[in-house]
Amino acid sequence: MKKLYIETVGCQMNLLDSELVVASLRKEGYELTNSTADADTVLFNTCSVRQHAEDKIYSALGRLKDAKKQMPNKVIGVMGCMAQKDQRLIFQRAPYVDIVVGPGQLHQIPRLVREARENPNQQQLEVSLGRKDGAVETIKRSHESFDPLRDPTMRPTPFQAYVRIQIGCDKFCTYCIVPSVRGPEQSRPGSQIVAEVQQLADEGCKEVTLLGQTVNSWRHTEGDRTWRFSDLLHAVHEVAGIERIKFVTSYPKDMTDDVLAAVRDLPKCVKYLHVPAQHGSDTQLARMKRGYTIADYREMHDRAKKWMPNVAITSDFIVGFSGESEEDFQQTMDLVRECRFKNSFIFKYSERPGTKSADHLPDDIPDEVKRRRNNELLALQNQISEEDNQRFLGQRVQVLIEGPSKKADPNAAGPLQLTGRTLCDRIVVFEGNRRQVGQTLPVAIYDANAHTLFGAVVTDHVGPEVFSLAGVSSAE
Ligand code: 5AD
Ligand code: SF4
Repeated sequence: MKKLYIETVGCQMNLLDSELVVASLRKEGYELTNSTADADTVLFNTCSVRQHAEDKIYSALGRLKDAKKQMPNKVIGVMGCMAQKDQRLIFQRAPYVDIVVGPGQLHQIPRLVREARENPNQQQLEVSLGRKDGAVETIKRSHESFDPLRDPTMRPTPFQAYVRIQIGCDKFCTYCIVPSVRGPEQSRPGSQIVAEVQQLADEGCKEVTLLGQTVNSWRHTEGDRTWRFSDLLHAVHEVAGIERIKFVTSYPKDMTDDVLAAVRDLPKCVKYLHVPAQHGSDTQLARMKRGYTIADYREMHDRAKKWMPNVAITSDFIVGFSGESEEDFQQTMDLVRECRFKNSFIFKYSERPGTKSADHLPDDIPDEVKRRRNNELLALQNQISEEDNQRFLGQRVQVLIEGPSKKADPNAAGPLQLTGRTLCDRIVVFEGNRRQVGQTLPVAIYDANAHTLFGAVVTDHVGPEVFSLAGVSSAE
């Protein structure tokens, strides 16, 4: 057996790509190791969304320099968004790297690794075309969706899976590198997606998370039928064995009535929407070219809440984008106060070479101001998340149990600390046993902080306690 070490940074799309690459290398006789020292092949699946993510990978590569000298046969590969963005620059900065492969070329990895082992001194670069490197159709073809047959043993849990429904992005927000590294938006055919979900269900998968950069913009024509995203949700909902359907990340303008109605009406759809607002000020949204105003966002948000009072909505925010005044920032604070998001992912603006904002807008907010705004927004969001989580005290929620919690001692005899999620994607921690992993069970909540609900599984035989809890109506 050859040993593979793989390190993944970035979004869910990268986690899925790594899962699929590992599965394809397993077929080549690889098994996973968690140390670079004894690995025959080391792969980094990279992210370019912020500078920090790239710095992390370049330092990790730096730490491999000596190992490669001692073990020249060790294959070192860089895959993912930074591979597409930096291309040969990676060979210049780390000359001992053997393979650089972009996210649209992952199907080539088994061959590239094989060839790198045979010819240790030959560096190989496989990337897709840039957004200006040809006709749209040619560029599209050069970004291939990597969707080989699934291998349940490769997933963190066999009953949960990511399913790619779309690659690329055409929104071109001015700060964002994704449209250049992941290429034009392309939707996978609905029939292919449903077949993949069916296969996953046949293998025991209970929860699927549909993935796309702007997942609710998905649309596909097959024959004379055009599927909208809501049609896809209905089709996936039909698959027997699937109990929960999630999707990330949504684009605010494409949160149409049919999508919200599908989420509301389909019981398997998780009542959770990740719809990044990015900013609370119209001037900043215009500079970001997000394509909507705060009034539009608010309308979408109110519609979702009106149709599904218990829906959990999360957002992303960028602080310290070019020209952000204190007043602009306060408008983001106001939006968070008003929308009371379940949680928000908050990022300091990081200028990305090759984006419109890097070319035309100054990165003019000092880092200490970015940091302060980040902390202020985070403190506000945490306060809201904690207050909202307190509403669950004394309530009973349905939890899909994912596995042992991070703090659980895997060798402990007796009860094990488990973690899972509610139907609106809140994390719940409670005591249980290994056999419960993969089941959906009622959990009574007795404590909560900003990020976690703490509870106890309600079992039928406890009788009196069930009755004492039964008077409280469930929030989900
Ligand atoms: N700087 C900081 N944050 C960014 N994001 C995207 N590009 C940048 C950037 N240049 C954030 C957005 C996006 C999330 C995945 O990352 O909020 O929704
Ligand atoms: Fe980037 Fe905007 Fe596309 Fe999201 S919608 S991936 S922020 S360009």
